[in-house]
Amino acid sequence: MSFIYITRRIPGTAVATLKKQKGFKVSVSPHDRVLKKAELIKNAKGCDALLSLLTDKIDGEVMDGIGKQLKIIANYAVGFDNIDLKAANERGIMVTNAPGPLITRSVAEHTVALIMALAKRVAESDKYTRQKKYKGWAPELFLGTNVYGKTLGIVGLGAIGREVAKMTSAFEMKIVYYDVKRAEDFEKQYGAKYVAVPELLKKADFVTLHVPLLPQTRHMIDEKALSLMKKSAFIVNTARGPIIKEKALLKALKAKKIAGAALDVYENEPAIDTDLRDKLELRKMENVVLTPHTASAAYETRSEMGEVAAKNIIAVLSGKKPPNLVRN
Ligand code: GLV
Ligand code: GLV
Repeated sequence: MSFIYITRRIPGTAVATLKKQKGFKVSVSPHDRVLKKAELIKNAKGCDALLSLLTDKIDGEVMDGIGKQLKIIANYAVGFDNIDLKAANERGIMVTNAPGPLITRSVAEHTVALIMALAKRVAESDKYTRQKKYKGWAPELFLGTNVYGKTLGIVGLGAIGREVAKMTSAFEMKIVYYDVKRAEDFEKQYGAKYVAVPELLKKADFVTLHVPLLPQTRHMIDEKALSLMKKSAFIVNTARGPIIKEKALLKALKAKKIAGAALDVYENEPAIDTDLRDKLELRKMENVVLTPHTASAAYETRSEMGEVAAKNIIAVLSGKKPPNLVRN
């Protein structure tokens, strides 16, 4: 008998898929909230496989508390910065993430939606209209910008970064990109140019982040990086909050050193940074669009993520290599 513990209710078919497996006992946390560390350890104690969410912090203490029989931590996310990979390695526990064609599309769609929302000032205009401020058409009312012909700067050319390029190709944007690896096929396909991050920041009208959160990407966008951007440029983050130093972003936005930002993730999420002493409050700024970490929030995508996690668990518990093993 193998015991699988799932830390929170998830939508879709994955729980049923796991329950159908012979010799699997599946338990799902009865609470629809993030478990406290002690609760997580108590509930998951003795499990062979843990299906974790990005809101669960899984460190060595949690692993030891669950016990030596733990073979796999299958994260229900593309990102895996919530798991201490070194601690997992030391204990011989496999860690997997949950990439797939639908999550790639969902996050790319959300990114494009945020780019459009910034260019067309959708959120600001919606608020204005609801507040009954609209008194008639005017030549300069909510002047924004087109994305057509503008330069898109893609930081991190994984599956999601590539999908954003594909989706925005209808807008005939120029593309500059940075990744640890150069991708000549991509350059040919989109006429894209490979540049270092500082150059990308200088050239792009829209900067979009698609790197994982790693020690080398934490605060990649800091005061210095922001100072390289054009005053007319926007930045979009659907990756991980700490890639941007949020306080530096607040200051750049307030001082109008850049035109705006759209964020789906936050440095200290779910908290959103404020610097009350300097009266800097992201939520009060008009040149920002904020969404609550919902880039992958489509029913079919969340179901896919669960199925990918289930596949990884089934593979490991039947002695096979999991398809989405993560390495540090
Ligand atoms: C969501 O943020 C994910 O990493 O899948
Ligand atoms: C990873 O985040 C990817 O781009 O698929």
